[in-house]
Amino acid sequence: MTSSIRILMCAPDYYDVDYVINPWMEGNIHKSSRDRAVEQWQGLYHLIKEHAIVDLVTPEKGVPDLVFTANAGLVLGDTAVLSRFYHKERQGEEPYFKAWFESNGFTVHELPPELPFEGAGDALFDREGRWLWAGYGFRSELDSHPYLAKWLDVEVLSLRLMDDRFYHLDTCFCPLNNGYLLYYPPAFDAYSNRLIEMRVPAEKRIAIAEHDAVNFACNAVNLDQIVIMNKASTELKQHLTDAGFQVLETPLTEFLKAGGAAKCLTLRVTEPVRVELHGSATVESRIVQLDGHLLDSGVINRALDIIVEAGGSFQVLNFNLGTQRQSTSSAEVKVTAPSHDVMETIMSQLIDLGALPRPQEICDADLEPVIQDGVAPDDFYVTTIYPTEVRVNGEWVKVDQQRMDGAVAVSPDGKSAQCKLLRDLTTSDRVVVGVEGIRTIRKAAREQRNTQEFSFMGAGVSSERRVELVVEQIAWELRQIRDQGGRVVVTAGPVVIHTGGGEHLAKLVREGYVQALLGGNAIAVHDMEQSLLGTSLGVDMKRGVSVRGGHRHHLKVINLVRRYGSIDKTVEAGVLQGGILYECVRNNIPFSLAGSIRDDGPLPDTKMELIEAQQDYARLIEGADMILMLSSMLHSIGVGNMTPSGVKMVCVDINPAVVTKLSDRGSIESVGVVTDVGLFLSLLVQQLDKLTNPYRVAEKV
Ligand code: ARG
Repeated sequence: MTSSIRILMCAPDYYDVDYVINPWMEGNIHKSSRDRAVEQWQGLYHLIKEHAIVDLVTPEKGVPDLVFTANAGLVLGDTAVLSRFYHKERQGEEPYFKAWFESNGFTVHELPPELPFEGAGDALFDREGRWLWAGYGFRSELDSHPYLAKWLDVEVLSLRLMDDRFYHLDTCFCPLNNGYLLYYPPAFDAYSNRLIEMRVPAEKRIAIAEHDAVNFACNAVNLDQIVIMNKASTELKQHLTDAGFQVLETPLTEFLKAGGAAKCLTLRVTEPVRVELHGSATVESRIVQLDGHLLDSGVINRALDIIVEAGGSFQVLNFNLGTQRQSTSSAEVKVTAPSHDVMETIMSQLIDLGALPRPQEICDADLEPVIQDGVAPDDFYVTTIYPTEVRVNGEWVKVDQQRMDGAVAVSPDGKSAQCKLLRDLTTSDRVVVGVEGIRTIRKAAREQRNTQEFSFMGAGVSSERRVELVVEQIAWELRQIRDQGGRVVVTAGPVVIHTGGGEHLAKLVREGYVQALLGGNAIAVHDMEQSLLGTSLGVDMKRGVSVRGGHRHHLKVINLVRRYGSIDKTVEAGVLQGGILYECVRNNIPFSLAGSIRDDGPLPDTKMELIEAQQDYARLIEGADMILMLSSMLHSIGVGNMTPSGVKMVCVDINPAVVTKLSDRGSIESVGVVTDVGLFLSLLVQQLDKLTNPYRVAEKV
């Protein structure tokens, strides 16, 4: 033994697989051989003894995993942070490790209760002593990292573990001498991989393959230029040799059955302190408040999922559950993120859910000037469909023209704010950046529930009776809106005509149920094709068969309308005498046709200038009470983006995926109906007729 490195180990006198707390232990309860375990442990012990001093902690009955001393705690200089085990199965080890640290002269820090941290299993010093890599995601909580930074006065870099086979950082990550790093990249999320790549230059990163990872090659003990591990492939050995290391293999298969190997069985208790470095953790925390029907609406679940999925972590500080059906709940949640960027990502999504900072933390929104027309500052806040307010000079200001995917521009006097599309920004605008001082107002209703009651998303094709029920409801609402002078906007695709819905939609227009029609070239072309020639895309609409030469019909129609100069003029000339567009012209219902790359013709009315078409759509949507989306995915998505929450949307499509996409706005107002649009329209018209003339129906019965 030449070195002054000290390692703590614990003999496997009572080692066994007694319970399952990681995937390796599954199926291995009492399957390991004590004799072989002792033999293998001795093999490791003697190897290490040749290069370091080994201290021993006394084995104890009832705590079989005590052999994994890496999980005793984390040591730096004469300070030890005691582990707080995540699983109760291992919590019994804590007093033994604590006693060992104390009797060996370490100052022991203990984390607050219920803040798990599993010691050197989840925290590994860079071997140059520059910083501490700390894992989270399975056993250790992200919130423990700032404590490590403070108590050990070291920079902590948080890495998120993603694969439950590699539940401790030391199972997939091993810093080596001279700045090398042995690791298994797929065990980490993208953000962590980026962080690793930023800190460790490519030539120092030794990324291992899965076959080595599952042999616990990263779970290695590095003593100067020696690397001790269970097993390594020839290529890995070569790689390490090339980097100047000597690989020593020693079989530890009995310990693999418990999910551990060489490194897990050791704790290095001499970690050199670098005095010139100081503590910091990029970990950020914030406390947010959520109010509403948090459970019924699923908001609380979604909020917590958002935090975890983005790589953060949470602690619910308070939860006041409303006990009556009508009463709302409130929660205070502490959000922790490994970096400022991740915190911003999480916060912007939580804001969309209606989360607010605590009153004492509310501050003004950050505004930045636009320095190039049509381009927002980098970190601009992206708007949603929900009513939004920004805080300017201590006041909450409502954002006008709410829509999705815009930026918030605040007026020079700070008294008003407006959603603006990127292309509409000018250098005189100031735009909200970051996530400070923004709130969205979500209806307090049991949003999710209602959506599902009326929709058939995910349920496949709805039964006829359920479609009828939903149609009854929609008919009733259409009637209300019409009687109160409201606005219904329809977006429709050509499928409306192909499925025989044309006459019904025409009737809705004629009877005043539609206040604007949005579509593309195709719906207009096929509607007029049907009126003028009786076919839709060449199919005879009465007999349902293709007409010879029918595929040319729509071009004839386009040509005809082009001759007259517009749809209006074709109607005026008495040439077009029926159909949806005819009814629009006759009843002064505005329509807007947005062009696309595949359009034939186009019709003179079709706007091939897309920005103009978007503006035209936006103008017609304004003030809408309901939007009926009839089998037209693209136009409907476009419309959905322009429409603030609060506008009822009814999306009808035979394809459940389209319905889900469009009606899943997480808002109370969307209804999805998976059915044939022609059938839907015919049922709708029948229902409206019933409402108009109930006696006629009664007579029939
Ligand atoms: N059975 C133990 C557990 O699941 C194994 C611990 C391995 N230790 C380690 N540092 N990776 O906790």
